Amino acid sequence: MLLHHWRILLPLITTDLRVSAFSFSTTARASRGKFECQFPKHHPLRASTKQISEQTSSSSQSEEQRISVHETIEKLTRHPAVYWDETTTFSSLHNKKLKMRHIDLFAETSDEDYRLFNGFARAVAQAGRVARKEVFETWASALHIHSGFLLGEGGTRRVCDVAAGHGLLAWALLILDDAESKSCEGEGCRPLTVLCLDVVMPRNAELIQAAMLECFPHLESRFDYVEGRLEQLIPHPSCLLASVHACGPLSDVLVATSASSGVPLAVVPCCHSRKRKVLEPVASPFAWDLYDEIMSEDGSMPDLADRLDHARVTALRNSGMVTDEEYLPTLYTDTDKNRLILARVPDDGSFQSSKPQGQAKVKKPKRQRRKGSMPPLDESTSTKSINPNAKYLRGFSVPCEDSETRRALVSRQAGREAADSRKAMMHNRNHSASPRLNMSLWLPENEGALSEEALADLINSRHDGVAVEVSKVGEIYTNSEGRRSQSYRFEYVSSEGGKSILKFDDAKRLHRELYELVPKAFIGAECR
Ligand SMILES: C[S@@+](CC[C@H](N)C(=O)[O-])C[C@H]1O[C@@H](n2cnc3c(N)ncnc32)[C@H](O)[C@@H]1O
Repeated sequence: MLLHHWRILLPLITTDLRVSAFSFSTTARASRGKFECQFPKHHPLRASTKQISEQTSSSSQSEEQRISVHETIEKLTRHPAVYWDETTTFSSLHNKKLKMRHIDLFAETSDEDYRLFNGFARAVAQAGRVARKEVFETWASALHIHSGFLLGEGGTRRVCDVAAGHGLLAWALLILDDAESKSCEGEGCRPLTVLCLDVVMPRNAELIQAAMLECFPHLESRFDYVEGRLEQLIPHPSCLLASVHACGPLSDVLVATSASSGVPLAVVPCCHSRKRKVLEPVASPFAWDLYDEIMSEDGSMPDLADRLDHARVTALRNSGMVTDEEYLPTLYTDTDKNRLILARVPDDGSFQSSKPQGQAKVKKPKRQRRKGSMPPLDESTSTKSINPNAKYLRGFSVPCEDSETRRALVSRQAGREAADSRKAMMHNRNHSASPRLNMSLWLPENEGALSEEALADLINSRHDGVAVEVSKVGEIYTNSEGRRSQSYRFEYVSSEGGKSILKFDDAKRLHRELYELVPKAFIGAECR
């Protein structure tokens, strides 16, 4: 119904906006590839000066703010990029990517409802990797989240974009918050920082990050993308867990975490599944009966999305969280993926983290860490992560607490280089950054020539980027014929410093080379 309504209005609206789009296009073409990404001084959602300090409670929005957000989102459904021409519908272009050639549709404008969105969309179009509907949908979610959690005194100052994919939600929130911060004065002002977390940091996310930073360079220190699993996240009440399209069980893990630890949450669930195997381990004990009913029912369930989301909201409410539900315009979402569930700790301090008695059958991990599994990389593992199952933890966890030390730690974990180092280390024997391999040698007559330094030099003088450290292992062994042997440990260390890790396979290759070099360099020496 609404859709038809906008289609009738469309020709009138788009004519007007395309005039400004054209005036932008001339300047954009004049400075190809370089955009002027300007911010408004005042954002329409809030005019007052913001005083923010390190607090853990999240703000609740006023009815006025809420109406304003709804009006802005509704207006976005009439954006010139929604209807590119009179014959093309938005849904037929759902998955069309925004490219440089579409930039004219996101002109600089004095219209406050479009201005920030257009700046965001221009950067996305520059990257050229994101479907158009995703841009609208994410921005609409961000408007609700920004208004519901980030505004005002006591507003959340750290967000973790869970299952971040392209990281668009995080960027949208940063841009909205940045416009707010411009009018913030005083020592208590602290800009939002975001942490994106995804099991795979896609190459596209890096391209989008580069495009965003070209437009908004001052946001660099506020953005981190860590490649890691949700299960490795250490939640904290000072950090909002936000996720758009958290597939199936991810939504339930987030709901269960929020309900049990009083962590603010904003989630758009998707890919609803009722398989017991999937749902049972992640169902919240606070709504176990509802989850159990869904899992036990036979036959098709056309209202699965509604019932599952209802169980999720009930779990949050039963735990004592204050909840809210918003619906993103169906114009750019699939109908059962458009619910935004919001949960925050009540302001009166009544929330107490607890577990309901005797309802849940959630499977507990048998042991914290398997024998021989990777030891913790840093002190962050001392706090409980979302799923401390060794299978997921692998000695690495991501703390999202909004404190200086935790933010700094996350910054060190962020980015491609750090992610690749972790992967390399995971594949190494004993998960060591510097693989160690032993060698036992029959000593030459001139034993003195075969020193640890001389052995190390065989590799160090031939290969850049590696520094071998050699040490003796155990005592000299003498056989019945009086032949003497000594074992040595070779530790292959990357000499490139920083986060670089030497791969186990590379170390093995160097070690094999040693087997050939040693007898030639030390006459009489023999590898055992
Ligand atoms: C449907 S996509 C959503 C991406 C993004 N939020 C969006 O709206 O486009 C789901 C994302 O969840 C990620 N994911 C799946 N399992 C995960 C896990 N255990 N921990 C973290 N991320 C996970 C996937 O890699 C994928 O990027």
